[in-house]
Amino acid sequence: MSERKRCVSIYPGSFDPVTRGHEDIVRRALSFSDCVIVAVAHTATQRKQGLFEVEERVEMLRHVFRDEARIVTTEFTGLLVDFARAQGASIIVRGLRAVSDFEYEFQMALMNRQLWHDVETIFLAPDVRHSYLSASLVREIASLGGDVADFVDPLVRDRLYEKLGRP
Ligand code: PNS
Repeated sequence: MSERKRCVSIYPGSFDPVTRGHEDIVRRALSFSDCVIVAVAHTATQRKQGLFEVEERVEMLRHVFRDEARIVTTEFTGLLVDFARAQGASIIVRGLRAVSDFEYEFQMALMNRQLWHDVETIFLAPDVRHSYLSASLVREIASLGGDVADFVDPLVRDRLYEKLGRP
């Protein structure tokens, strides 16, 4: 009898910082993966203003997923498909919150397949409670004095307030 191939998925992103929405997607991916690699990109496709250093983002992700040995957090440089292939991960997981996400995500999925024809992108819908959540909104709310306790892990909230010089 042939052995089942291990299913390694990769969930790439900026995670600046990790939100409850990201957490939800990673835990959903565990339902069909033996291992989920959460990979923080040094080079994001869209030009974005970073708040946290990549190392800080990785540290927060490791804290958030410390309860689950099947979730591995790391960082990568260069092309996602090259990193995924080196890790033996042929499934890319991305969250789709709304139709507005679709165009960018679809373009990336097709381009990644063009670069590595064996890769599949799986889009997951978040819990509806997180469908309006984004790391950029969390950063903005925190920087303007708002409460982000509902949107991020307590450690991430503390790190955000520290970074922004909030008490
Ligand atoms: O959370 P984000 O910022 O939307 O994630 C975008 C990310 C990191 C997945 C994308 O920018 C990426 O894959 N960057 C790595 C470089 C790369 O492979 N670019 C070509 C993508 S088709």
